[in-house]
Amino acid sequence: MAIEIGQYKGGWEELLGLLDMAFSAPWTDAQYEAERKVWEPERSYVALNDGQLVGHTGTFSLRMTVPGVAGVPVAGVTMVGVVATHRRRGILRDLMRTQLNAVHEAGEPLAALTASEPVIYGRFGYGLASDAQEIAVPKKSREMRAVAGIDDVRIRWVDVQESLATCAALRNKLAAERPGMFHHDERFQGYAISDTVTANPANGSKRRCVVAERDGEVTGFAYYRTKRADKGFVDVDRVHAVDLASHAALWRYLLDPDLLSETHCDTLASDDPLLDLLVDPRAPSAITRDGVWIRPVDVARALAARTYARDLDVVLAVTDNFLPWNAGSWHLTGGPDGAECSTTTRSPDLTIDVRELGAIYLGRPSLVRLGRAGLVEEHTAGALATTSQAFSTDRLPFLDTGF
Ligand SMILES: CC(C)(COP(=O)(O)OP(=O)(O)OC[C@H]1O[C@@H](n2cnc3c(N)ncnc32)[C@H](O)[C@@H]1OP(=O)(O)O)[C@@H](O)C(=O)NCCC(=O)NCCS
Repeated sequence: MAIEIGQYKGGWEELLGLLDMAFSAPWTDAQYEAERKVWEPERSYVALNDGQLVGHTGTFSLRMTVPGVAGVPVAGVTMVGVVATHRRRGILRDLMRTQLNAVHEAGEPLAALTASEPVIYGRFGYGLASDAQEIAVPKKSREMRAVAGIDDVRIRWVDVQESLATCAALRNKLAAERPGMFHHDERFQGYAISDTVTANPANGSKRRCVVAERDGEVTGFAYYRTKRADKGFVDVDRVHAVDLASHAALWRYLLDPDLLSETHCDTLASDDPLLDLLVDPRAPSAITRDGVWIRPVDVARALAARTYARDLDVVLAVTDNFLPWNAGSWHLTGGPDGAECSTTTRSPDLTIDVRELGAIYLGRPSLVRLGRAGLVEEHTAGALATTSQAFSTDRLPFLDTGF
């Protein structure tokens, strides 16, 4: 079987056929259209068998927030698929290698993805760098603790399209402060209100939008759908607000729907204030889901691209069996104002695989926790704890837009 891996030269229709087969066609036409609009043809890599398309991986050019710094170039890995007749022969592995080599050449220090099957990507050096909560709050358990100023916030219906620019600007402002979020350019503003990111497009209402306002200023918004089947519910897509009162007011509205008995949200930040405000801690029935996976593509540039919670001076022996240029000893110095990283001959304080480095990169989980699981080796007493503190962030990393 002669398989050629290279840059894609074909069109969307042909690629659609492959994605349709690879994903067993769970997508609607509207979803494919949404994907087409964000697709970057020149960053698509394919596997061809005698000219027939049998595998694909795509790349989005994203600007992501990392601890202390917004707008870091990150390659978003997307639309990964190999046709069923050609699986488990190493095609994905070859596609991943070609893609990561190209990302390295393009100068992006990191790659990121959201996985349909989370067991696949660790072997290619991706570490799980954020999580999210899937919640289902019964209407009868919606009681929240008091929030100052909540009654000064007005909730108002708006048209999704007409309010798009206002909501996108507000969301982008917040995204710049939260590790793991990426800037929505015009393409992704459309993507965020497309059917792609909706759990139940078949049975729900149209996407609805409400904004929170105080003194005539928009202070937050929520996208959601409603569904009335055997059990009616509100399906919340996203809630973003600039202050707690607006956030709580939006949730108070979403948790109290007429005729419907439950409010669902698939992707709530694990430190969302709602989880602390609900009087009944069991009410959300929260399930933890994997969020964004991060792959340092250029270890030195990636480590120098973020800031650190406290001063640090550490030598990391990094293992990387997929991208050989990352393997070796790296001297990382930095603090709250910035960092530098370069190769060194100094003996290492810690040994860490690139996958774990990806996992801790955005601030959580802690290095100490990974050390306890035997995933990081400490050579200098105390290095694990101090490096762990330096990598940690006040806010948990979170990604609100799967891709
Ligand atoms: C997932 C998919 C792309 C894998 O492609 P593939 O060409 O069969 O993968 P490879 O043969 O290169 O496998 C590379 C390694 O990953 C493992 N692997 C691949 N798919 C896996 C899966 N679904 N579950 C567990 N392991 C998997 C292989 O066993 C192999 O392991 P090894 O490193 O120990 O040898 C393909 O099965 C597919 O298209 N699935 C449906 C669409 C999908 O899930 N896409 C992923 C979107 S995030």
